[in-house]
Amino acid sequence: MAVDLLLGLQWGDEGKGKIVDVLTKNYDIIARFQGGPNAGHTLIFDGHKHVLHTIPSGIFHDTALNVVGNGVVIDPVIFKRELENLDKHNINYTEKLLISRKAHLILPTHRLLDAASETSKGKAKIGSTLKGIGPTYMDKTGRNGMRVGDLELENWRDKYQSLTAKHIKMLDFFDVDIQYDLKELEEEFCAGVEKLRTLQFIDSEEFLNNAIKEKKTILAEGAQGSLLDIDFGTYPFVTSSNTTAAGACTGLGVAPNRIGDVFGIFKAYTTRVGSGPFPTELFDEDGATMAKVGHEFGATTGRPRRCGWLDLVALKYAIQVNGVTQLMMMKGDVLSGFDTIKVCTSYKYKGEEITHLPYNIEPENVTPIFTEFKGWEKDLTSLTEENQLPESLMSYIEFIEKETEVPIKIVSVGPDRKQTILR
Ligand code: GDP
Ligand code: IMO
Ligand code: MG
Repeated sequence: MAVDLLLGLQWGDEGKGKIVDVLTKNYDIIARFQGGPNAGHTLIFDGHKHVLHTIPSGIFHDTALNVVGNGVVIDPVIFKRELENLDKHNINYTEKLLISRKAHLILPTHRLLDAASETSKGKAKIGSTLKGIGPTYMDKTGRNGMRVGDLELENWRDKYQSLTAKHIKMLDFFDVDIQYDLKELEEEFCAGVEKLRTLQFIDSEEFLNNAIKEKKTILAEGAQGSLLDIDFGTYPFVTSSNTTAAGACTGLGVAPNRIGDVFGIFKAYTTRVGSGPFPTELFDEDGATMAKVGHEFGATTGRPRRCGWLDLVALKYAIQVNGVTQLMMMKGDVLSGFDTIKVCTSYKYKGEEITHLPYNIEPENVTPIFTEFKGWEKDLTSLTEENQLPESLMSYIEFIEKETEVPIKIVSVGPDRKQTILR
């Protein structure tokens, strides 16, 4: 049996959490493969809104198992808070939430290093969520990190102390003033570790490959988006993991030939939170309308998201890198009421018109060239069938399908689980 992948094709926040929740009924296992609490995945159903950061978005279903894979970085402090939120809704997670022993731990000092690094960069800062993601992955690749499996060792506290001591020395390197109370941070961390220990730690690559042999169905849930990928994103304004399809193989221990469908999620327009280039960004009324109607505020940090038109050059790039087999278009409802909808179909780059994503997409190098579409007035949020969609939206959908050569299988028309049209 194959492992299907679900990933964001833009700069994150495409609506991955919502769609994983919608699809979970078709799967035995939902597995997160990278990222950590920098993610904020929103699920809305039965009148409640839930935001998950590290826990896979299948957790609200009774039967599916949820695996936090080896490629994920876990902050026990934030994880504990997430579990406490689940407690409030009487979600019994002890049997259905499994944690990879090989997942790395975010220490309190990783968060401090993140803050120090960002502050020292001044205007050139990445716009990190400051959850310690970069420093934790640096320790992973630098072969200094602490893993969930270490918590089963007698001497885990020694490991923690020696890594923390190293981080404190590193903090001195940054010429910035970061205030902290180490004792308080450690108490919080240890309480998080104790809570984490109440869950099952597993050898997740073994577990998942056995599940594949037993013909179980698995959906791998990505975090962030392809344009934030450490290799293929808008470096250095990216996150520190591979958010693209290959990241699912290394982040779960699943071989490439086990991958089945690749679901690519995109918004009908584009958003970005944090710094970095964004060719189709709007600074006018249209952008402000998208932000307002789409409630474009970060699910993790609450920061306003930058908004702009759909960028097909970037979308096609992401589809290619990921091998997307099915597309899912989110938030079309937000565009209702625009007279004209624009889509970027090429860039002006060094005096030439190009249709691929070049190395450098800073505003001084790239000017987007747009194709215009007639907008639609109709409120989409109560629609349930494809044949109810307005004609001009159908033209928009068909144009994207023709350009990308990938079918759009889901059209999402609102944040609720029910506001989902299957095609
Ligand atoms: P994720 O990180 O990819 O899971 O996405 P986020 O949860 O960070 O951001 C997506 C936001 O859009 C959330 O507030 C969702 O509730 C909301 N959302 C998802 N799909 C739709 C949709 O089709 N229409 C509208 N209006 N909102 C949506
Ligand atoms: P989900 O899974 C949107 C962005 C940050 C910053 C850059 C690096 O909800 O789509 P980091 O904290 O990783 O060092 O930040 O990446 N970023 C996200 N933007 N959605 C996310 O996750 C993001 N996770 C990180 O804003 O620009
Ligand atoms: Mg998000």
